[in-house]
Amino acid sequence: MPRLPTSLLRKARAIDPLLPRLLGVCRELRAAQNELRWLREYADKIARGRSGKAHRTLLRGMVENRASGKPLQYIVGTEYFGDLEIKCRPGVLIPRQETAASVTHLTHLLRSAQGLPDELRVLDLCTGTGCIPLLFKHEFSDAPHPVRLRLLGIDLSQEALDLAKQNLERLQEPDVDDESSVINFLQADVLKESWDEQTVERPCIQAALNFSRQPQFWDVLISNPPYISPSGYWTTTTRSVRGFEPKLALVPPASEGATDTDQGDTFYPRLLTIASECEAKIILLEVADMKQALRVANLARRLNTCTGIEIWRDQPDQKSGTEHQDGFPVIGTGNARSVLCWRGPGAAWLGKEDELNVMGAATDMPLSLQPQFTYPFVESSEDSRSSYLEDRTMHNHRPRGAYKLFEAGRQLVSQDSKKK
Ligand SMILES: C[S@@+](CC[C@H](N)C(=O)[O-])C[C@H]1O[C@@H](n2cnc3c(N)ncnc32)[C@H](O)[C@@H]1O
Repeated sequence: MPRLPTSLLRKARAIDPLLPRLLGVCRELRAAQNELRWLREYADKIARGRSGKAHRTLLRGMVENRASGKPLQYIVGTEYFGDLEIKCRPGVLIPRQETAASVTHLTHLLRSAQGLPDELRVLDLCTGTGCIPLLFKHEFSDAPHPVRLRLLGIDLSQEALDLAKQNLERLQEPDVDDESSVINFLQADVLKESWDEQTVERPCIQAALNFSRQPQFWDVLISNPPYISPSGYWTTTTRSVRGFEPKLALVPPASEGATDTDQGDTFYPRLLTIASECEAKIILLEVADMKQALRVANLARRLNTCTGIEIWRDQPDQKSGTEHQDGFPVIGTGNARSVLCWRGPGAAWLGKEDELNVMGAATDMPLSLQPQFTYPFVESSEDSRSSYLEDRTMHNHRPRGAYKLFEAGRQLVSQDSKKK
């Protein structure tokens, strides 16, 4: 990192003796001034009623902490995520603006959708501070038609879940909150595939849903999972991220024989499988960059369970020219940030019924052959423990007619397109 010119340090000191300490981490005078202002405001707030000396000591301590690379959000204890001020604490990843932009864009598409179910169910895997379900709910609070939401955030980290619950409590909006929406947070290991692999501290999703009497079927699945490869951890993250943010939230675990890239992509096959099992009609997965976006989009295409896939950039709401990569539409401006997949009624909810599907054929499959996603026969029952096996058995054996029709329809469409 290049050293700072003495003239800049002198200029900073002339403005405020504390500024040069912040210049090291902020690198620019304006950024350092902003941070000093925020730290001072925070010190004012917590030192209220204490002596001037106590206030100065407190502020100097905060500036030193920040100068050591500690993220500002961990010092002042919050970060904005969309319009929400989310509580942050070391041990839990700080929410990022790009994640908020994708979630906000998705909610804006859905808020005005026709034909949403009476209760829209949203599953957020790897929830961290709980910022995604909280923002989703907030964005729906003034939707044109009232929609009942059921939101569930899942994370492996107990520290994250404790913070998510505090955020939920803190952000309850008494005049908006009524019985019509519910948010819960649960502990589970997204990577555990079955009942046999799980441990008490790391239940698999199915078991966690069952034990807590949550539904097995969800409409929207969102996830910002750990997605940085071991080499990317050293080359793409800042010293401050590596020094202070939890590695569990950033780098997926190593597994035997996996390459560096495979390790970075660890969560996506599992997330797409869960999406299929819980019959999600819309799936939004955050990624690191265009290369990873294309790997995830191609994986979703190969799995053949979605009718549409597109890639969103950091600002998906901003208009850009028509762009395609590997045949996938790319939406918005900035870096590639997420992959959106849909199927069944998800297409109509997103206003995408008329678009080409991922098979490259128009989605004018006869209605009778389109997937009819309905809610399950089995929800959580009185005794969720004993219902687990029963539920699973029924899940495996229940008529998968919708999927069969869906597959039949696909084959027809592809035969048709071959004939042409
Ligand atoms: C990139 S962070 C995302 C946090 C939050 N959704 C956000 O956007 O700010 C990933 C989260 O995944 C959690 N996590 C890591 N491994 C997990 C696993 N195997 N199962 C469930 N959650 C996991 C971490 O604890 C962390 O909170």
